[in-house]
Amino acid sequence: MKQFPLSELLQSLPKQFFASLVDKVAKKMAEGHDIINLGQGNPDQPTPPHIVEAMQKAVANPKYHKYSPFQGYSFLKRAVAKFYEREYGVAIDPEKEVAVLFGGKAGLVEIPQCLANPGDIVLVPDPGYPDYWSGIALARAEMVMMPLRAENQFLPDYDEIPASIAEKAKIMFLNYPNNPTGAIASKEFFEETVSFAAKHGICVVHDFAYGAIGFDGKKPVSFLQAEGAKEIGVEIYTFSKTYNMAGWRVAFAVGNESVIAAINLLQDHLYVSLFGAIQEAAATALLSSQRCVEELVALYESRRNTLIDALRQIGWDVDAPKGSFFAWLPVPSGWTSERFSDYLLEKAHVVVAPGIGFGKHGEGYVRVGLLTSESRLQEAAERIAKLGLF
Ligand SMILES: Cc1ncc(COP(=O)(O)O)c(C=O)c1O
Repeated sequence: MKQFPLSELLQSLPKQFFASLVDKVAKKMAEGHDIINLGQGNPDQPTPPHIVEAMQKAVANPKYHKYSPFQGYSFLKRAVAKFYEREYGVAIDPEKEVAVLFGGKAGLVEIPQCLANPGDIVLVPDPGYPDYWSGIALARAEMVMMPLRAENQFLPDYDEIPASIAEKAKIMFLNYPNNPTGAIASKEFFEETVSFAAKHGICVVHDFAYGAIGFDGKKPVSFLQAEGAKEIGVEIYTFSKTYNMAGWRVAFAVGNESVIAAINLLQDHLYVSLFGAIQEAAATALLSSQRCVEELVALYESRRNTLIDALRQIGWDVDAPKGSFFAWLPVPSGWTSERFSDYLLEKAHVVVAPGIGFGKHGEGYVRVGLLTSESRLQEAAERIAKLGLF
C-alpha cells in the first residue's frame, strides 16, 4: 500500500500527550488487573430519561429525516436564549447571538480558524484543556501561555502579560469552572477580563463546559454576566457535562454577534447542521425541569467530599475543588507528575492524569476525576495509602 505523506498542517498538530497514558492503561487491563481509572473526563452517568425519550420520539419524525436547516433549528436557538435568561439573567438574540455546535470541542477548535491569521497570538491558560492548542495549530496561529498559579486561585494575572503580546493577541481562551484545576471565577474577575480584552481588542472565548457544576451552594458565574462581555467575547456551552450527553455531540456558542456569524460561516462550509432529533432533545434538556442537574451536582459534591476526606486521612494535603468534576492534587516532593502517575498505575492500579499533559504549569500536580462511585474513590485512596508515600 502506498503510504501518503501527511500534509504539513497535520504534521504541525500538537502530540496527543494522553494517548500514551491510554495505551499504558489498556496494557494493564489486558493483563487482568482491576484498574481504578480516575484519569479521564467521561461522565459515568446516563442521560436523564426525559431527554432520551424526547430523542426517541423525535427520531420517528420524518421532518428530521431531511437535511436540517443550515445553522440549526430556530427552536433550539430560542431555547438557548430562554436558558440564558432563566439561568443567568442574560438576554440573548436567538438568531444573531447563538451558533449551534457539534459539541464544545468543535466550536473551540473552529474559533481560531474563524478569527486568527497565521502568526497571530492566541492567549491560552496553562494548565489548560489541550483542545485549545489543536485549533490554534490548525489556524497556524501562535500560542502564548497564561500561567494559572495556586497562589492566584488558578486565575491568570493580566499584569504579567507584556503589552507587546497583548497588542498582538487576537483571542484569549478561559475556562471556569476549570479543567484541570477545579477553580472557579467571580464576576469581578470576568469584569477585569472584559476591560483587559476591550483595551487590547482581544476576543474572549469562555469555555463554560462545567458551567453547571459548582459546589458548596455556589452557582458558577457565566462570563456573559459581566458588564460588556457580549461586546468582546463568546461563551461555549456544552450539553456533555450538564446533561451527561457527551456522546450526543451537541453544544452552542453564545455572545458577540460577529463571532457567531464567523462560526456559522465556517460551519456553512463544513456541515449542514446536527440531526434534527438531537436538536429537539437538546431543546427539551434546556427547557425542562433542571432537577436532574441538581441531582448530578449533588452526586459529584458527595464524591468530592468522600475523595478529599479519604486523601486527607491518608496524609495527602489536598485542596477541595470548587467546581468541575476534577480534583487537582499536588504530587509528593521529589516526583514529577508523570513519574508519580506511572507509579500509581504500576503499584496501586490507580490511573490519574499527570499535570504536565495540560501544560508546563501543570507540572507538580495530577488530575483526578470524580467519575466513579464513592466506594471506588475510597478504595483508590486506600490503595495509595499502602504505598507509604504520605
Ligand atoms: C474544559 C473542556 N472544554 C470542552 C470540553 C468539550 O466537551 P464537548 O466537546 O463534549 O462538548 C471538555 C470535555 O472534556 C472540557 O473538559
